[in-house]
Amino acid sequence: MQNSILLKTLRGERTERPPFWYMRQAGRVLPNYLKIKENYTFWQMMQKPSVAAEVTLLPIYDLSVDAAILFSDILVIPHALGMGLDFIETGPVFENPLAFRENPLEGLHPDPSKLNYIYDVIDEIIRTRPENTPLIGFCGAPLTVLLFMLQGLGRKGDFPDAIRFIYEKPEETKQLIDIVTDLTITYIEGQMAHGVDVFQLFDTHAGLLPFDLYQELFMPSVKRIAKVVREKNVPFIFFPKGIGAGITAIKPEDCDYLSIDWQTPLEMARKLVHPAIGLQGNIDPRLLYASQEEIEKRLQPYIEFGKNNQNWILNLGHGFMPGLPYENAKFLSNWVKRVDWGRNI
Ligand code: CP3
Repeated sequence: MQNSILLKTLRGERTERPPFWYMRQAGRVLPNYLKIKENYTFWQMMQKPSVAAEVTLLPIYDLSVDAAILFSDILVIPHALGMGLDFIETGPVFENPLAFRENPLEGLHPDPSKLNYIYDVIDEIIRTRPENTPLIGFCGAPLTVLLFMLQGLGRKGDFPDAIRFIYEKPEETKQLIDIVTDLTITYIEGQMAHGVDVFQLFDTHAGLLPFDLYQELFMPSVKRIAKVVREKNVPFIFFPKGIGAGITAIKPEDCDYLSIDWQTPLEMARKLVHPAIGLQGNIDPRLLYASQEEIEKRLQPYIEFGKNNQNWILNLGHGFMPGLPYENAKFLSNWVKRVDWGRNI
């Protein structure tokens, strides 16, 4: 593992190119994933260690990325809190979303043992992974997880009933945040005990609240989570998508690396984010719909950035979407490895 280019970068060592992996790399664009999916439901894939481990490692072989990310979902936490959850063609669906319940707090019963199968998956990945392949553990940040719990349907844009609930019922919201955070921390401790090498916290919908409200209500939980991860010397990457100029307020004690969304130019982010924090990102996944000539043209600025910034992990500014051309994802990987990054190491 000493020779993992991702871990080297995270340790602050110089490398001849930036390490790279892709958010949502383990499904969606991979033909081999779609083949496996013909035989199982999403839940079955997640819960069967041999299948989940195989899917986790697919992008190592099929996209030559520098790290694997656990094949699971952020919504395993609401499930372990007792919420009925299903994954259908269009995305996750909750049986009885909290915003529409009489007593949202009453129906939640944290059961950490409902997460045990994920530790079996981690053990299997670690047993079968190729050399120098770090495993990234992850979970959803309290805001994003709570929005799904309150609203139910994830694809319903901007979670209107969930946001309304947060404003109408601040006290219940705070209690819900604590319930989600407590179980999340137990879950992260489990992931680390089973050997994840790096940890990423996804706050995909952080941009749906004004940043000052986000800071007041949700940052204390993010800080609690960051502390638990960093105390174990596991590098901590934070992805608060859509917070705009809020990135200036993220402190070195909040994360080791900050994952930048595709809205914010990386050069600008570098000027705004505290210099002790490394950056990850931020290629627009939709660029992969373009021709390879156009893709290469739009990637040019990243070469200059990568030349001047060793503390950078190349990644997307959000995850792959289903249906993006696999050939273009491969083209991107090959490009990273082919380019002369002009680094003196
Ligand atoms: O690289 C990976 O795919 C690793 C595992 C992973 C999944 N979900 C598997 C998954 C990760 C890191 C996630 C995170 C996740 N899940 C987030 C945060 C990150 C982000 O990209 O926004 C969110 C908001 C979810 C909730 C979720 N799960 C949605 C909205 C959907 C449906 C839309 C979609 O992205 O496909 C899912 C289903 C899901 N999670 C799939 C996979 C592989 C698709 C299942 C299928 O193939 O049918």
